[in-house]
Amino acid sequence: MAADPQGILGPRRLAGLLTATAGERPGYRALAHGVRTLLLDGRIALRTRLPAERELATALGISRATVTAAYDLLRTDGFAHSRRGSGTWTALPEGRRPSSVAFADADDVIDLALAAPYAPHGALADALAAATGAAMARHAASAGYHPYGLPELRAAVAERFTRRGLPTLPEQILITSGAQQAVSLTLDLLARPGDRVLVENPSYANVLDAVRRGGLRATPVPVTDEGWDAEVAESTLRQSAPRLAYLVPDFHNPTGRLMPEEQRLRLLGTVRRTGTWLIVDETLTDIALDVPPPVPFASLAGHGVGEQVVTVGSLSKTHWGGLRIGWVRAGSQLITELATHRVPTDIAGSVLDQLVAVELIERTDAVLAERLPLLRSQRTALAAALAEQLPDWRWQLPPGGLCLWVDLGAPVSSALAAAALDHGVRIEGGARFGADPGTHEHRLRIPYALPADQCVEAVGRLASTLAAGLPATSGDNRRRHWVA
Ligand SMILES: Cc1ncc(COP(=O)(O)O)c(C=O)c1O
Repeated sequence: MAADPQGILGPRRLAGLLTATAGERPGYRALAHGVRTLLLDGRIALRTRLPAERELATALGISRATVTAAYDLLRTDGFAHSRRGSGTWTALPEGRRPSSVAFADADDVIDLALAAPYAPHGALADALAAATGAAMARHAASAGYHPYGLPELRAAVAERFTRRGLPTLPEQILITSGAQQAVSLTLDLLARPGDRVLVENPSYANVLDAVRRGGLRATPVPVTDEGWDAEVAESTLRQSAPRLAYLVPDFHNPTGRLMPEEQRLRLLGTVRRTGTWLIVDETLTDIALDVPPPVPFASLAGHGVGEQVVTVGSLSKTHWGGLRIGWVRAGSQLITELATHRVPTDIAGSVLDQLVAVELIERTDAVLAERLPLLRSQRTALAAALAEQLPDWRWQLPPGGLCLWVDLGAPVSSALAAAALDHGVRIEGGARFGADPGTHEHRLRIPYALPADQCVEAVGRLASTLAAGLPATSGDNRRRHWVA
């Protein structure tokens, strides 16, 4: 039974998108191919109602019969459904939907499913030593439950926001188990099943999963090699009036794009009018490789909209994901509600981990001074290996973050990811990052978080995988890895 359509695409907008992919005045096969490419690339969403045939024909300057034939072809191939009275809307053929997530055991494969660096050894050892001294002894003489987070860690996180240009009080900070818990809690507190949530497409996979698990309706807006399209984001906000929007504007995972300031200001203006909560995930903010780290998004919010911005951050990329330390910055009232909401989940975080985090935050600048040059050199090594061994693949060097978002030129990424495991590489296909499962089949997210020699070796193994030939697959219908 086909799901009902959810959004509408106007004839002029589709014609504009198609001109880039299908050319001027396309024949029916090129038109169907263009729509399919836009869908698989996430530029138009799943279950979007396509324009009426006559309107699209007019917008494209072609005959209605051509559009009718193109829509027929899309339906035959499973990329569209129609119903009398509901029109024609985008769909995916069976078999393109992913199944369950596989958790990896330690083995000798190179893990490219995780975009997460190793711990900074020296700083971690120093922080551990400092944390287990007098501070730990003082805390050990208490019950040790702090649902809001350890007071000294809240103060340290608030102080860093303040220093970066966003005055923040400790009462505005909730310490969480990573940014993941921060986003999940916020979604859970602020949205009810059935509510719409604007998400970028592609986006961070674990948050997309949290949106689905919460029964929320993802309303995708595309992020392409050119970044965000402020007009599409604004019209989506106005038309769908989502309850929440989840954005990764700083070195977006997986594309690495950085949202320009003028787009941030436009978005803030729009959410002020629509009343949408904005969850801004700044997990990657400090992984600024070629540009200065951006100022906090919320520092651009004037009076009247600042309270709608919920900022999420983490130590996972600057320091180490194994610590599981993240935070929410929001109005103190919302922080109290979030703290109350987290108690039934895990009551509070570990005191020892939070004391280590206090020490690490103090060492952030020194850690980044080592980490960023290393990441740059790993990015260079990865890019050079790709250019040499897989010269047909295309990518843009992102100004920050931890990944290349590679265009494979063909929709083979799930098949490649499945086959790569036999060649010693664990990686996820682009579809794993699609707001609509089954899209982004021609993309592969390749992190450069591992040491350079492993990045290079992994590229060699991917090239061998391709050279050995990929099994025919109808799409992303295999077990998935978990990602970060
Ligand atoms: C954008 C984004 N948000 C959240 C997370 C999860 O971070 P944490 O380990 O702090 O839960 C990641 C990790 O990859 C991420 O890239």
